[in-house]
Amino acid sequence: MSDSTELPFLIFGSPLIEEAEIDEVVACMRSAWLGTGPRVARFEREFAAYQGLRAEQVAAVNSCTAALHVSMVAAKLEPGSEVITTPLTFCASVNAIIHAGLTPRLADIDPRTQNLDPAAVAAAITPRTRAILPVHFAGRPCDMAALTALAQTHGLTVIEDCAHAIETEIDGRKAGSFGDFGCFSFYATKNVVTGEGGMIVGRDTALIARARVLALHGMSKDAWHRFGDKGYKHYQVVEAGFKYNMMDLQAAIGIHQLARVKKNWQRRAQIWQQYMQAFADLPIGLPAAPAPHTRHAYHLFTIQVEREACGIARDEFLDAMNRLRIGTGVHYLSVPEHPYYQERFGWRAEMWPHAMRAGRGTVSLPLSPKLSDGDVERVIAATRSVILGRH
Ligand SMILES: Cc1ncc(COP(=O)(O)O)c(C=O)c1O
Repeated sequence: MSDSTELPFLIFGSPLIEEAEIDEVVACMRSAWLGTGPRVARFEREFAAYQGLRAEQVAAVNSCTAALHVSMVAAKLEPGSEVITTPLTFCASVNAIIHAGLTPRLADIDPRTQNLDPAAVAAAITPRTRAILPVHFAGRPCDMAALTALAQTHGLTVIEDCAHAIETEIDGRKAGSFGDFGCFSFYATKNVVTGEGGMIVGRDTALIARARVLALHGMSKDAWHRFGDKGYKHYQVVEAGFKYNMMDLQAAIGIHQLARVKKNWQRRAQIWQQYMQAFADLPIGLPAAPAPHTRHAYHLFTIQVEREACGIARDEFLDAMNRLRIGTGVHYLSVPEHPYYQERFGWRAEMWPHAMRAGRGTVSLPLSPKLSDGDVERVIAATRSVILGRH
């Protein structure tokens, strides 16, 4: 492991792109219909079928952030209402709450599962609480039985952040179907990619219809229905909406990515098991075993590197892996570590100690289905050598 400069850099989260999506993008370009049109409609139908939903129960958008924002606007929560979420998430979960004119409140995670602790959520509920926004962190399902019970008792809307959770299930039921809304991401590193992209799902077709209108300026008809071969159709602006629609160019990628969702999941599951075995004897924290009767989406493989246990600090570990030409990620420094939230809400990381500790020690190792067996061996060898001090 001394001289690794000649090794290719292993990019963290690099997606597996195959010929089918390349050909579909080319076909889309040749059709010259790049914006929202027939390919988005097909992607919506196929995503709905994958989720066991009807096409009217999904709406494609251009990111999960947009999906979260539009869901909260569509839910008509009164301005200033509080929405409880986790500190161990991407800033988008919290920013979407703020942009919807609502107030984020954090509840700590269960340190074992790294998901929202329902007891902490219960303790964070106030008379102004109107919604819970659980994040299925790394693809592991949250305790939706406990969270939906709390929501029912207190009359709260539930918006599931399913950015990591396309394949996630509890008792055969898909993540995104427990709450009022489920919001998915097709960002470049996600389990199904469209470059940028997202999807809103929900049982209530009226709410999804509203979300769809809000995602395109509040217009009653999209371009495909205005300029299609049925003749020009007037539209009406019925709300002040946003510019959040997905393009056919993006859907062209997603259609074929979705067709391989199971195959890619199986490959990540295999890599996950290899990592679990290869690291069992190391003094690092490993992900908790998936709960019985659930399916983990295996989106992120996160280890915990703490100086007291490993003799090396997390950031030193990141640097050492980089020197070995292995890209890693950090998911996430807890939200209250960031200055904006400290200044605006007076938050301090110490207020949610489990998320703080997880965020300060966590490292995500590569888990893309694109990894070859040799790549996986490189990640394993590098991790072991850095932790065992032989790098
Ligand atoms: C937990 C979580 N929520 C929301 C998002 C936002 O997704 P997008 O990039 O599609 O807006 C991400 C993306 O990284 C995420 O990881």
